[in-house]
Amino acid sequence: MTSLERLTAYAGARLEKLHARGQHRTLKPTRRMDGARAERAGRAGRDLVSFCDNDYLSLSCDPRLVAASQETAARYGVGAGASRLITGDCPLNGQLEQTLAQMKGQEACLVFGSGYLANVGTIPALVGKGDTILMDALSHSCMHAGARLSGAEIRVFRHNDMDHAAELIAEAPGQVLVLTETVFSMDGDLAPLEELGALCEAHGAWLMTDDAHGLGIVEQANPALVQMGTLSKAAGAYGGYVCGPAPVIDMLVSRARSLVYTTGLPPTVLASALAALEVMQDEPERAARARGNAVLFCELMDLPSPDSVIVPVVIGEEARALAMSTALEEAGYLVTAIRPPTVPEGTSRLRITFAAGHSQADVRGLAAALKEAYRG
Ligand SMILES: Cc1ncc(COP(=O)(O)O)c(C=O)c1O
Repeated sequence: MTSLERLTAYAGARLEKLHARGQHRTLKPTRRMDGARAERAGRAGRDLVSFCDNDYLSLSCDPRLVAASQETAARYGVGAGASRLITGDCPLNGQLEQTLAQMKGQEACLVFGSGYLANVGTIPALVGKGDTILMDALSHSCMHAGARLSGAEIRVFRHNDMDHAAELIAEAPGQVLVLTETVFSMDGDLAPLEELGALCEAHGAWLMTDDAHGLGIVEQANPALVQMGTLSKAAGAYGGYVCGPAPVIDMLVSRARSLVYTTGLPPTVLASALAALEVMQDEPERAARARGNAVLFCELMDLPSPDSVIVPVVIGEEARALAMSTALEEAGYLVTAIRPPTVPEGTSRLRITFAAGHSQADVRGLAAALKEAYRG
């Protein structure tokens, strides 16, 4: 067997397993548009109302962000050209960092290429072999990736279970780093940040939070010493960041491998993110509209009032979740089914997200279509 044959046989065997488990995934070219609309390949000419992206403030197609990107391309070009430590530190990075640190009430901030890169770079720079990472069971995949890269011992506490966290922290060796999300990405619920902060303080542990789904949407008091987030969701652009004490941020500049060994963000992206943060602060009514849409939907569906703009409708079986998603698409609503391994086995779901760009009629239409899909 040649090397190529062995490689393709290996991929083929893995694909077979994925198909057998109903976990094979495919990319679907999608043209996203203003007003939470999207056009899918295969459905040309028919706009769908998108209820599954993370563009919560409907900023990704906002003309102000587009103009910022265009003007910046003319001034700075479209690529950073090198890592930030070489020549890729476009001055807009510093502006973005100042704005984020001020918004988060933190001393300093460091912008990364993405939220994923921020987590996989920061966590291993904070702890290593001999230390302990204590993390919520529903923490995002990139926190798990960062934790594994660190070499620290990983202990997982049951989702939002403070008793379990307290039990585990009491016997954790080395420096303890506690990881959680502020707003959980697949469930939309919130972490008990005050209690986690107090627990960490009592044990000399460090709390680090992932605010990917909170920035600009859910304001919570956050005692975490290290606060990461992303500019790819409510900010509608791209990039990640970490805020914290100045010496920590200074240390990350030299020690976070995903900052040191990767190219800086394109200036156009930085400019769009800066424009987004300005809109986010100047127009709080956008977040209120997105949250109001989530509340309306939950009322219509007899669901508990949501903590955020993410509302999970847990279906259970993967095939059923896929069938419901297809039925909604037929009705004009884009709601991708989320399946294992993204969510635990048996909890395949429709992860419905609400945005500023949805009208109340959109929300009412989705609720009616979902009720119909349940019946079908
Ligand atoms: C909780 C959480 N953290 C981090 C990330 C990664 O952020 P980014 O998309 O900027 O890489 C995501 C994105 O899905 C997320 O949901």
